[in-house]
Amino acid sequence: MSSSPRKILVTSALPYANGSIHLGHLLEYIQTDIWVRFQKSRGEQCTYVCADDAHGTAIMLKAEQQGITPEELIAQVSAEHQADFAEFFVGFDNYHSTHSEENRELSALIYQRCKEAGHIASRTITQAYDPEKQLFLADRFIKGTCPKCKAEDQYGDNCEACGATYSPSELIDPRSAISGATPVDKESEHFFFKLPDFTEMLKQWTRCGTLQDEIANKLSEWLDSGLQEWDISRDAPYFGFEIPGEPGKYFYVWLDAPIGYMASFKNLCDRTPGLEFDDYWGSGSRAELYHFIGKDIINFHALFWPAMLSCSGFRTPSAVHAHGFLTVNGKKMSKSRGTFIKARTYLEHLDPEYLRYYFAAKLNNRVEDLDLNLDDFLLRVNSDLIGKVVNIASRSAGFITKKFDGRLADQCSEPELIQQFIDAGADIATLYENREFGKAVKLIMQLADQANEYIHHKEPWVLAKQAGKEAEVQAVCSVGINLFRILMVYLKPVLPKMTAEAERFLDDRLDWSALDRVLTDHQINKFKPLMTRVEQDKIDAMIEASKEVLAQEQQAQPVAQGPLADEPIAEQIQYPDFAKVDLRIARIAKAEHVEGADKLLRLTLDLGGEQRNVFAGIKSAYSPEQLEGKLTVMVANLAPRKMKFGMSEGMVLAAGPGGEDLWILEPHDGAQPGMRVC
Ligand code: MSP
Ligand code: ZN
Repeated sequence: MSSSPRKILVTSALPYANGSIHLGHLLEYIQTDIWVRFQKSRGEQCTYVCADDAHGTAIMLKAEQQGITPEELIAQVSAEHQADFAEFFVGFDNYHSTHSEENRELSALIYQRCKEAGHIASRTITQAYDPEKQLFLADRFIKGTCPKCKAEDQYGDNCEACGATYSPSELIDPRSAISGATPVDKESEHFFFKLPDFTEMLKQWTRCGTLQDEIANKLSEWLDSGLQEWDISRDAPYFGFEIPGEPGKYFYVWLDAPIGYMASFKNLCDRTPGLEFDDYWGSGSRAELYHFIGKDIINFHALFWPAMLSCSGFRTPSAVHAHGFLTVNGKKMSKSRGTFIKARTYLEHLDPEYLRYYFAAKLNNRVEDLDLNLDDFLLRVNSDLIGKVVNIASRSAGFITKKFDGRLADQCSEPELIQQFIDAGADIATLYENREFGKAVKLIMQLADQANEYIHHKEPWVLAKQAGKEAEVQAVCSVGINLFRILMVYLKPVLPKMTAEAERFLDDRLDWSALDRVLTDHQINKFKPLMTRVEQDKIDAMIEASKEVLAQEQQAQPVAQGPLADEPIAEQIQYPDFAKVDLRIARIAKAEHVEGADKLLRLTLDLGGEQRNVFAGIKSAYSPEQLEGKLTVMVANLAPRKMKFGMSEGMVLAAGPGGEDLWILEPHDGAQPGMRVC
């Protein structure tokens, strides 16, 4: 270990302030946090900052939909994000916002310096404009019919049906996804960062160990084929920072987003004695600077960002570490499959350290996607953490507590075995340092196997029954406890909560620097189970709850007016598919509020002889009193579904776009409960 600690600044990408944290995000924050905790455990001076990415059109529109100001929205989301991160033990040293004074000043400074150096251009461009909403439309806010395959309702830049890419002007019957109006072309002056000026600088920077090979290779293709100027301005209305000296023009969200890393760090420096902004960001800085990001945002971090930094007299990153995307059960996370799992939903069902361990066990330093296979997740966590690691402690602790008053033997009876465990630390540290967490975990689990074999071979439970073997029982169990202790030092970056509990149990600090201490003649505390098993029904409940969150969100979505209200017709089905659906008239015998549900009512439906309990998301349109006695059409043969509030035995049909505009049937002559609908 070096004598003077390294100065390291680490960031994770700043999550957008318009949505919840989900397990995909967590792959990144957990990965970064493990690396940071490893550095801290080694005694390095490591600082981890992040922030919400609070600017842009999407956030502005979302606030408008909710009838609140963008400032209110980002305050709410920031609180939610921070609570989620804290419960997953993502230990930021500072969590800030891009909508902050520090960021405004730094963004203005960087822009000014780039401008003075002649690297900002301006020219008039023509763009799609929503005449109703009076807003320029980014490609993803324009929808229309694909010019190639004629699929309707496709986004402005690519067709999900046939995969064609095109410009929004090629769309047939283009519409604003915001108002439904037909976009018109409109001119406006924009500002550009002259990225091509930095081609040589970037060719060097991308080739000096700052990037993973696969990324450096990809970028060198772009660098060779010529870079484009980067459009860094947006017209009002826009939620962001106005460009100094250019009224009505705003910095594009991606300009001030990475500057948010600096701003968050600045905010921390301003209240932390001894932490100096310039030590980390000055052009001559010797501190290390690492950005952990997902593969979708590489060009922002490996091209625009280093160019902007070098242009404005700041240091460039030491490295950018990109990771792949999370899939669940081998597929893209999906709302309808219930695998689009929010951090909060997970926390309501499962221990966050299961996920930290699982990610660690599967992570490497390449840009590969990582699959959360929920069957494998259960087996792996139970067999490794409960079956191996916790088992070592629980098998040893009982005897020490019961027979020796919690006192460990005053001599170590297996110095070689213990030394071997300590020596393994060098390789494990190298693997952590290189972000090969999966390989580190594998080595740690091999040691755990060895520790279990040792105990198994010595059979302290047999010795304990033999006269005169007390000292041997104490010796074996003390070795067991010491081996467990070393394993927990190695697992501390991954499992901070379990390690904290082990620290209490062992009455000892488990930092890497304390690795080669052997506990002899040492008092330990009573052992409490350090972790419980993953249970299948909790996983199932989490998936169900994720489907439900989706159902509630869909009810809450305000629906676009005009042509967009016409939902595209679903994929064609054959008559036998339809015939499977048994639709019946049901009388709403009872309707009640459901405690804790914003959108749902509990309905007791009378099918003419049979009663069903069904939860329906129609609270926005009807109060319970209005419903009782009315008739509705229900899907009578839908498999019952376990929901958070109970079993739902069917589904009622209502017409309308949602919100207040939902209608069920009125009682009608002739319609009788139980009747088949045809
Ligand atoms: N706001 C930008 C980042 C600005 S950084 C100056 C952004 N935000 S994001 O919320 O969309 O994503 C935040 C991070 O989470 C990104 O690094 C992104 O790649 C990562 N992930 C988002 N979904 C993910 C998965 N499904 N899987 C793995 N990482 C994912 O991008
Ligand atoms: Zn198409």
